[in-house]
Amino acid sequence: MDFPIFHMDWAGNRMLIAVIAIIHVMINHPMAVGMMPLITLMEYFGFKTGDKRWDTLAKKILFICFIVTTTAGALTGVGIWLSTSLINPYAIGSLIRIFFWAWFTEWIIFVLEVSLILAYYLLWDKMQGSIKSKLNHIRIGLALSISSWGTMAIIVAILGFMMDPGDWTKTPGLITGALNPLYLPQLAFRTPMAMVGAGLFAWFLMIFFVKKDREFRNKAIRFVSIWCICWLPLLFVGAMWYHDRIPQMMQGNIDVAIATQQWANQSNNLLWITWVSAVVVVVTVTIGLLKPNFMPRVALLIPFILIIAMLGQFERVREFIRKPYVIGDYMYANGIRVEDYPLLQSEGILKYATYAHVREITEDNKVLAGQDVFNIACTRCHTTQGVNSVVEKFDNLYGKDKTWDPAAMSAYIKGMHNARPFMPPFPGNDKELDALVAYVLQIKETGETLPGMQSAGIVIAPETVRRSPVRISAGDADASNVTP
Ligand code: HEC
Repeated sequence: MDFPIFHMDWAGNRMLIAVIAIIHVMINHPMAVGMMPLITLMEYFGFKTGDKRWDTLAKKILFICFIVTTTAGALTGVGIWLSTSLINPYAIGSLIRIFFWAWFTEWIIFVLEVSLILAYYLLWDKMQGSIKSKLNHIRIGLALSISSWGTMAIIVAILGFMMDPGDWTKTPGLITGALNPLYLPQLAFRTPMAMVGAGLFAWFLMIFFVKKDREFRNKAIRFVSIWCICWLPLLFVGAMWYHDRIPQMMQGNIDVAIATQQWANQSNNLLWITWVSAVVVVVTVTIGLLKPNFMPRVALLIPFILIIAMLGQFERVREFIRKPYVIGDYMYANGIRVEDYPLLQSEGILKYATYAHVREITEDNKVLAGQDVFNIACTRCHTTQGVNSVVEKFDNLYGKDKTWDPAAMSAYIKGMHNARPFMPPFPGNDKELDALVAYVLQIKETGETLPGMQSAGIVIAPETVRRSPVRISAGDADASNVTP
């Protein structure tokens, strides 16, 4: 509540983070983490067998990955920082304090990774001269592979932490935070996922890169099939381990995460689609190994599309299931710490919000106060009339054309975390709850929308007094004037 509230009232704030983060993972996992070792292996294989065609193919694939990862890949990486700091500065603020040295290290490794990919690609032709320089070039590929994986390995610690901080809540510290219960299982899942994704992407590129040379095409398909087959069992084990460690409470969210509330009971069908996709991947990879000659071009395309779709879905589900928290057990998705709830629920959130119109709720300012409350308590996940619109949600509960009963709405919001465990409890007091209901009724009536402070401008609450340096001593005549 100490930052002005950025809000996108049509698409919703979650959407912005989700789109950027999912594109980032779709690029980063197959094209960087998985592809760099595959390319290096291909180069090494060509070097060992003396077949130049491997070298040419590896370099062509590298070119595509080089361009995409250093442009769209790197930009979406920065985009995650930008969007998350706009939308949930409290969560980013906490994470950066806990994981400062992890991120610092990650940044160094990232710079190293970019330098290595530049060297690896740009020196490819120059380092063909002697056996020694070729081997050195392959070593660059190896170092690049390790650093690509290294950046992911660090970030996954933070992602795992956000889902389940484990012992950190009792003994805070970087190491306890990093070694959270979901870290290793998630890493064990993402690593082979990236490797298999890379294999399927390499297949896809072969449609364009080895068109005519049938004999080599078969060899290359088989090579990549073996690569995938080596990683698939690990992917399976990683997925099981990871799934097993997801806390019970989050497992309950999976249905809604996969399919939204409206379709939650269809989520089994969607799970089936995931299984079928997995089987399709396994079958095509096996055909690629045994009968590469039979592989039509579309068969190289389909598994790639499936794995990208699965990766996207997996990220979406991961983002969703940690709700109601943004950092498990520590901070709710609305940016309010669990330990601050008792105070806020008794004294009210508006009393402590810096950017609000209203401090003291009266009959006259009730709706405006309700808007402040909605901004603080609901906008991280809901819009007024857009995606996941709060009006539409109440429509579904009480009927679009009916008159809604304010008492029933209050009662619902008070217990919303029980009815729908993916929502945090209402953080304010009863007066604020009334104001929120009045606001929701008004926007239902008027169809009014809510611009974020980035366009509406900021409003600082009246009588905001700087909190920390105020010294209050007993008998201080001014003490009663100090508003927290
Ligand atoms: C952590 C994110 C989050 C926050 C914060 C949040 N909600 Fe929700 N809410 C959701 C999601 C997700 C759904 C279900 C969307 C779907 O799939 O239909 C939902 C559903 C609802 C529903 C419909 C529930 C039902 O049983 O059909 C109502 C009403 C609602 N929210 C009101 C609110 C209000 C009011 C606030 C603020 C006090 C709020 N929510 C805060 C995420 C959130």
